[in-house]
Amino acid sequence: MTAMQQEQFHAAQKAFIVADTFGIDAPKGFAVNGFADPNHVAIPKSDDNYVFRKEPLREALAFLECPMNTGLFISGHKGTGKTSLITEVCARLNWPVQQITCTSRTEMTDLVGYHAMMSTTPGAPPEMQFQYGPLALAMKEGHVLVLNEIDMMEPAELTGLNDILEGRPLVIAQNAGEVIHPHPAFRIVATANSMGNGDETGQYAGITMQNMAAMDRYRFMTVDYPHEDVEAAILAKVAPELGEAIHKAMIGVANEVREVFKGEQTLSVKTEYGEESVAMSEPISTRKMVLWAQLAVQFRSSTNAEGERNALSYALHIAHLRRLNDYEREAILQLCNAIFPEWHD
Ligand SMILES: Nc1ncnc2c1ncn2[C@@H]1O[C@H](COP(=O)(O)OP(=O)(O)O)[C@@H](O)[C@H]1O
Ligand SMILES: [Mg+2]
Repeated sequence: MTAMQQEQFHAAQKAFIVADTFGIDAPKGFAVNGFADPNHVAIPKSDDNYVFRKEPLREALAFLECPMNTGLFISGHKGTGKTSLITEVCARLNWPVQQITCTSRTEMTDLVGYHAMMSTTPGAPPEMQFQYGPLALAMKEGHVLVLNEIDMMEPAELTGLNDILEGRPLVIAQNAGEVIHPHPAFRIVATANSMGNGDETGQYAGITMQNMAAMDRYRFMTVDYPHEDVEAAILAKVAPELGEAIHKAMIGVANEVREVFKGEQTLSVKTEYGEESVAMSEPISTRKMVLWAQLAVQFRSSTNAEGERNALSYALHIAHLRRLNDYEREAILQLCNAIFPEWHD
């Protein structure tokens, strides 16, 4: 980076007061750097109902501020808020993000870029052009590259990132050997359901064991489902109409289902043959909680197809229960009957 580029970079930066920007209590005047321009198309859209948690936020900000030649590896169960932590932070710091979700077929060329036939205007004859991938763009422009579900990727493909994580330039052989030096604002964040050691829980299909040398280049962080207080604050924002007692009961149901999903607790269902223990194939994520609450509010004031069924139960069927098998559904309904003050299914 030339001195002029360095100067331009510093001019583009802006300091954000942590307590005000993220709505948490932080030392007075404590600030982090983001960018002044809020209009870049790659800046994620922020969710006004998002509630930041202090611990994960601290680690994410420390990483963004000074990555020390590492990537950030965020591990946690489905729907715990791994991806949204980064996108919500970047949304507030005006930091552009390049995101992809990895599969077993994702290759380095998907990240780096490839030649493709493209028209410059609609209807014009196409020409062969190099299309930069999210990694190349993020390195060039100083964006955060978010690799979702990184442990679905073939480990051999990922070793191509090792040099980059160490701060070396990207060389694009297929584009005349173009060399892209990392912009000072370039960061790599990976999210995964595992810690890169393969699936230890047996709940996630398709997870591969990652290469040790690749994992050596990350710092690690785990995210769990939000604490009750955080979820209560989220529900109070999205569906204040339901009231605290209902919010609390909803969180009680979700937390019990999550524990069963993680295998930390069992749930039994009464059937005509007696009590049976059921496993849960799907957790109730915070996203599902929000949908459940919003649907309940919507159906409360309208008549619905299923007649007298109460809005909370109807909403839960739509948001979550219909996907489950009969046993799981019945177990959750029985749980709701026990937890909710008034519940009619
Ligand atoms: N702290 C939070 N505040 C508000 N919503 C949250 C929070 N954490 C998670 N969510 C919600 O839960 C959903 C799932 O989060 P996401 O980041 O996609 O999970 P993951 O990447 O871990 O699967 C998000 O859409 C978001 O709306
Ligand atoms: Mg995710």
